[in-house]
Amino acid sequence: MAAWSGYWPPFLWGAATSSHQIEGGQNNDWTDFEDQGGGRGRSGLAADHWHRWREDFSYLRTLGLNSYRLSLEWSRIEPTPGHFDRSVLDHYRTMTDSLLDLGIIPLVTLHHFTLPHWVKEKGGFLNRHASEWFVRYVKTAVDCLGDRVNFYVTINEPMVLVVMGYLMALWPPEKRGFGRALYLINRLSAIHRDAYAAIKGAHQKAWVGLAHHVIAFHPFTDTIADRLTGRVLHYLMNQRFMKMVGEAQDFIGINYYTRQYAHWSRGLHPIQNKPGQLVSDLGWEVYPRGLLEVLKSLPTFNKPIFITENGIATRNEALRTTYLAGHLNVIGQAQRLGLDIRGYFHWSLLDNFEWAEGYSPRFGLVGVDYATQKRTIKNSALIYRDIIRANQGQYPITVPSG
Ligand code: FCB
Repeated sequence: MAAWSGYWPPFLWGAATSSHQIEGGQNNDWTDFEDQGGGRGRSGLAADHWHRWREDFSYLRTLGLNSYRLSLEWSRIEPTPGHFDRSVLDHYRTMTDSLLDLGIIPLVTLHHFTLPHWVKEKGGFLNRHASEWFVRYVKTAVDCLGDRVNFYVTINEPMVLVVMGYLMALWPPEKRGFGRALYLINRLSAIHRDAYAAIKGAHQKAWVGLAHHVIAFHPFTDTIADRLTGRVLHYLMNQRFMKMVGEAQDFIGINYYTRQYAHWSRGLHPIQNKPGQLVSDLGWEVYPRGLLEVLKSLPTFNKPIFITENGIATRNEALRTTYLAGHLNVIGQAQRLGLDIRGYFHWSLLDNFEWAEGYSPRFGLVGVDYATQKRTIKNSALIYRDIIRANQGQYPITVPSG
């Protein structure tokens, strides 16, 4: 089986997914939440990717992608403390081997929002042993994938985890508390550092980073209060964690979707959109320029940048295409300005389970009919393929007009 050959294309053209959102048949803290009616429905069979991954990988080829971001499901790999399921590890290894056979570079996320039951029951990442547990799992996974996988994201969107689970308490573990949230941010940065060191110890050449969720915050009105609120939100949500982790990231992973408006009204209030704007089915504004605005103001430590997620929930293919082309255009501009952006992973390869929003948002380049599990390549995906074709060997990237 092909190991890492040092091959480095000028730009990684990719798509991203996560285990809980597509595999089906999960049994973790999120399925508990779903069973208790926490969101809009259960993940259930999802896109049945656990059984259909070969077919799904064939679409990566059809689209001409040279990279793919997937996540490993900790709860499958280590269902009880210290007991690793070899068949699950073999499954993931077969998947990453197949990607390499297809000429596709895997980028593996080790934690994408879900936890095994036993970790949840002991307080999740707040437990003082959580780092040991996470590192033990990470080491096992990295040992298994060996030198096949050279790109790792330790934790997907730590700040989203904190805000949704502990500040707004709309996601597991639904435990509201400001002090707890602040403590968790410290813990997550320590856990990342420990995982970073463990992966580098096992596989020195690996590139290890995080996928940071960023939002382009604009003041809602021109008042000083709103302008200040914008700055504070930008600092707290976009910059602080990145600074805390500092040099312990070999690349800067950025998940960018939208702009929000910062408003002060006896507290910090992000507002999703203004009337009359172009928005997704989730009400997220389409604002490609925001990606450049945020990138220019981030502490990137002179590291290469990957756009680890960017996409839109829509059933309108013309809108998805506008969104995709608009953001790729901005990435090209940013590269010409000297920002070292090395890859783009569209969210998502497949329609999938959008957490508490359930199955109605459609983020996929490839559509999924959940009743039959039939896949359909969408028009925007074919346009993405054409843009990729037009950029073979190119850096900076360009989006052909028309
Ligand atoms: C990101 C998540 C991803 C997906 C997209 C729409 O915040 O990382 O799993 O839900 O949003």
